[in-house]
Parts: sequence; structure tokens; C-alpha cells
Amino acid sequence: MTTRSARPAARSAAPRSGAPKPAGPKSGQRVRSSFVVVANRLPVDRVVLPDGSTDWRTSPGGLVSALAPVMRKNHGAWVGWHGAADEELEPFVDDGLQLVPVPLSAMEVEEYYEGFSNGTLWPLYHDVVEFPEYHREWWDAYVKVNQRFADAAAATAKRNGTVWVQDYQLQLVPQMLRDKRPDLTIGFFLHIPFPPVELFQQLPWRRQVLAGLLGADLVGFQLPGGSANFVRLVRQRVGLPTHRDRIQHPDGRETVARAYPIAIDARGYQELADEPTTLARAAEIRQDLGDPRTVFLGVDRLDYTKGLKQRIRAFGELFASGQLDPDEVVFVQVATPSRERVDKYRQLRDEIDRLVGRINGDLGRIGRSPIVYLHNSYPRDEMAALYKAADVMVVTPLRDGMNLVAKEYVACRSDGSGALVLSEFAGAAQELRQAFQVNPYDINGMKDVFLLADQASPLDLRRRMRAMRRQVFDHDIDRWAERYLADLRQTRGAER
Ligand code: F6P
Repeated sequence: MTTRSARPAARSAAPRSGAPKPAGPKSGQRVRSSFVVVANRLPVDRVVLPDGSTDWRTSPGGLVSALAPVMRKNHGAWVGWHGAADEELEPFVDDGLQLVPVPLSAMEVEEYYEGFSNGTLWPLYHDVVEFPEYHREWWDAYVKVNQRFADAAAATAKRNGTVWVQDYQLQLVPQMLRDKRPDLTIGFFLHIPFPPVELFQQLPWRRQVLAGLLGADLVGFQLPGGSANFVRLVRQRVGLPTHRDRIQHPDGRETVARAYPIAIDARGYQELADEPTTLARAAEIRQDLGDPRTVFLGVDRLDYTKGLKQRIRAFGELFASGQLDPDEVVFVQVATPSRERVDKYRQLRDEIDRLVGRINGDLGRIGRSPIVYLHNSYPRDEMAALYKAADVMVVTPLRDGMNLVAKEYVACRSDGSGALVLSEFAGAAQELRQAFQVNPYDINGMKDVFLLADQASPLDLRRRMRAMRRQVFDHDIDRWAERYLADLRQTRGAER
């Protein structure tokens, strides 16, 4: 296994550029805003460095990268956890955003975050690719912590303001918030898939979760299928009347459920990718990789939903059979560390380490490893350089709400070159239809498609990339947020 090339972000060393200023509002002074986002994580994460000192890094995942630009435009306040246990922080300002930290104890991190959010809901909502665990004490912690987030949002939102609650960790917040602050307009957006009715029914607290979401005026999903599942469950389990995407409450209020496929700051990515320093870095990366004919690239959080084992196995077999020549082709896999204290994530890391080690041990030679595996997170400019350096991007999750990496790759390919291999089970597959689509469970099928993408003619690739770029640039993050927020205003306006 090799870990050469690319510069790690603050996770293991250097401070994040533009570190937060803890002195936004004065100590003890409350932040008040008309537009409040509530998410499990703040956009910056507090990390403890090996020498015991603390630092900040950009939080992992698509939620933060999608919402940060929206928040900057709307001058809102962001309520969320700062990533460290047993630590209370005052509100602070970072990069123009007002941040309101919500504290979690070590026990709550274990039971609410690692437990109910990521040991129960995460696998349940991702097609049960791993077994969800159901523990009553995890649920109790989920309720308690959701109440704390709701209280923090209620204290931050100005009268008649708007609060936008994010993702599966906080599904009870909309109703808790409504109970305290009926004056607010409340939105909710689920960044991950909403499961089929048959799977959701497993959840012992299914009714409470539905009731929590129904506190919102508008519940947003990535895909129409998720929103249809939700409406059907509300009809069956809660017994409320529904008409298309509208749910009627006994008091005359309505909740609307609709799909809003999340997007990226496409122009921002393109500009970054076309900067001379990024282009120079991309050339340097290719050189460091030994100037291969083809660079395949995977970029994922190290998560069992991402299909990493199947993907690495497919590459291993292609290299072993000689269908891909390790002297000409390299596969670079960036795996961002994630949920490292959760058992299943630890096991996955060990399995991937072993798999990559075996393939490189068998097939590599001095100065050349077929797989370059980077277990680290990287800043945006380094990611843009990697996208520029890659001939074929492989995004093959077993299930994914959307997958913004696929869209980021497309945004960075301003010369129209490059191939995208995309799982049918990523939300993005519904929009990026010209990608080389694969079933990630079918390893032979995936191998064929990797070869197809590698051998495709420049003309074919350009035609596909042109269509995908049109989609990504026409449906960017501004449009996503505008559409959602306009609909949210309208749902509430209709009621008043
Ligand atoms: O987009 C899904 C999501 O779980 C976000 O809610 C989250 O912030 C991100 O992925 C990263 O996961 P985590 O916050 O658990 O590191």
C-alpha cells in the first residue's frame, strides 16, 4: 500500500486556513437570526491533534459542502455540534457564518450520534446494506439530544423567522420546534435516501419519527421515490389524509413532501479547477503517479455504503488478469476517515487495508503500485486538482442519497474530457444519465464498464460530458436552495 502524493488537510497536521474566531457575539450574548439552519454538525469541526492541542477542520460530507455557500448568501445562523465531546463553546463567527455550538456529552456521542443515528438509522435508510441495531437507550438519547437542538434553534430564531432542519440525525426537531415556536416557518431536508415502506416499518419508533417530521411545513427529499414512500407511510401509519404531495393536519395546517435533488456550486468548482495553480498541481500529481496512461479515481467517505470493497476487488481482478496493465494504469482511492469509533467502520477500514495491501503486494513493483490508497481528507483545491488529474472517476456506492463527488468531477472537467462511472443506486444517477452506469453488486459487470470507460473514444466521452455538464451547471446549488426556500415560503404563506 502506498500513501504518496496529495497534501492532507488539518485532520492530522496543519491548521485549517482562516480558523474560526471564537469572539463573534460577545461571550454570553445570544445570536438571533431570521434564518437558521440546524444540522448535526457545524461546518467546522474541533479536532484534537497528536500533541494534545485543538484545531479546526472543515467538517466531512456533502451536507456541509452544499449548505455552506447557501448560508453565506442568506446571512443566517447555523446551529450544530462542533464535533468534540464534553465541551461547551460560546457562539462564534467563521468565514462570515454565525455558528451556535450545541454540546454533546461523551455518552450522547456514543448513543445519539454513533448509536441511533449511525448504528440504527444510517444502515436502515441505506437499504440495510448492514444490519441496523435497535436499542431503547439509543432511542432515548436521540429524543433527548433532538430536544436540545430544538431548544437551541428556538432560542436563535427571530419571531416569524425560518428554521431549516437538516438530515436524519434531527428528524424529531421539526415537531419539537413547532411545539415551542408555532410562529416559525419550519423546513426539513433529508440528505440520505428515505427507505422503502417495507424497510422503514422495522423501526420500533416509526410513528414517532413520522410525527417528528410532520412538524415541518415542507419535508424535502433527494428523489421523488423517497417523498412518495414518506407520504404513503404517513397515510398508513399516522392515518392523516393526503392528496398527492400534501398532508392534511386536523388543525388545517399542511405539510408538503417533495423532491429537491441536491446540487453543488458548479461555477465555484470550475473556477477553482481552472486556476493555474490547480492545473500545475494536477500535472504534478500525474507525474508523481509515474505518468500513467489512465488514472482512475475514487473519492468517498470510508463508509460501507460506498461499495469500496466491490470496487477494489474489481480493480484487483482487472490488474491480476492483465486486462489493466499496472505499468500503464493506476487506481487512486481517497477514503476520508469517518465515524472511526463505530465498530463496522473500524472493521471496514481493516478489510480495505488488507485488500489493498494484498493487491499491491502481489502486483506492484518498486516505484509502481496499481492502487494508491489515501486514507485522509483533503482541502477543496487539492480535490479539484485530483479531479483534473483523473481520466475516469469511479463512483460506485451500494446506496447513496445523491453523491456530490460525481457532480464535482463533472464541474471540474471544463475541457469536456473524462469519463464518469456511476452506480445506479446513487441519487445522482437519475440526473447524470450519460454516465457509464453500473450495478455495483455485479463485479463482472463493473469490470466490463471500467474497461469500456477506459477505452471509450474521446468523441463519445465529450458527448457524454457535455450533456452532464449542462445538467450540473443548470441545476446548481443556488437553484436548489432558491427552489426549496421559495416553496417553503409558499407553503407557509398559503396557511397564513
Ligand atoms: O450527508 C450525510 C451525512 O451523514 C451528513 O449528515 C453528515 O454531516 C455527513 O454525511 C458526514 O457524516 P458525519 O457527520 O457522521 O461525519
